[in-house]
Amino acid sequence: MTAVLQTDHLSLQFGGVNALSDLSIEVDEGALHAIIGPNGAGKTSFFNCLTGYYKPTGGAVRFQGNEVTGLDAAKVAALGIRRTFQNIRVFPKMSVLENVLAGGHLRATSNLLSITVASRGFRRRERLLHEEAMASLEFVGLADQWNNLAGDLPYGMRKRMELARVLIANPVVVLLDEPAAGVSSVEREELSRVIRRIHDQGTCVVMIEHDVDLVMEIATDVTVLDNGRIIASGLPQDVRTNPDVIRAYMGRKRK
Ligand SMILES: Nc1ncnc2c1ncn2[C@@H]1O[C@H](COP(=O)(O)OP(=O)(O)OP(=O)(O)O)[C@@H](O)[C@H]1O
Ligand SMILES: [Mg+2]
Repeated sequence: MTAVLQTDHLSLQFGGVNALSDLSIEVDEGALHAIIGPNGAGKTSFFNCLTGYYKPTGGAVRFQGNEVTGLDAAKVAALGIRRTFQNIRVFPKMSVLENVLAGGHLRATSNLLSITVASRGFRRRERLLHEEAMASLEFVGLADQWNNLAGDLPYGMRKRMELARVLIANPVVVLLDEPAAGVSSVEREELSRVIRRIHDQGTCVVMIEHDVDLVMEIATDVTVLDNGRIIASGLPQDVRTNPDVIRAYMGRKRK
């Protein structure tokens, strides 16, 4: 199997605190790789290191075989690594469609000429982008919401809108930080269906998720973090019964 995304001995320190220690993870092509672990385990910090939001203090990140350690967030996104955030990021006063278009912005304006010259080619690209945004909304089941204000959407739908925003960029890999946290059980089903569809269409998915049932249902691989270290990794069913994993979760508050 080829690793799409790989870390070698990644570490991250804040002052004297080791947020991540010696993390070596491989995300294979075609994987739906779940990252689980108790609160404060380092899951979001790990995503931040992968996506240029934090600079790791040691180790390396490779994407499709090339080192991308320390690249800034915009460059990482332009390479095809896209993410959602644990705390939802929505422009509430903009329409659902405009929110999704914001995700295509980086790619659409990557050619400076295309923003300075209002050429026919530029308008064609804008139209294409618009079509892609609608297709992304269709994909997540929100096409009929396109003209509503994003701020008026129920929370679970906003989470799906974020997925559409990530998908419009045709990413190679998507990193989802707790995509189903805080949503109703009906929305959880919808989100699970959409995440599965993203994976089925060949996009690599890395998902941080506290909902162990959801992870067991859809993940192909699981890595468990605790105190910034990997304490288990492998197939979902093996990880679930791992004594170290059970111990790490016992007596800790989980969301
Ligand atoms: N910018 C920062 N400055 C200082 N410490 C930080 C920073 N970001 C994260 N940390 C620390 O790193 C550790 C890991 O935090 P992180 O948010 O990555 O955990 P998590 O596994 O995502 O937790 P949760 O399940 O609550 O989202 C915590 O001890 C946290 O306080
Ligand atoms: Mg987190």
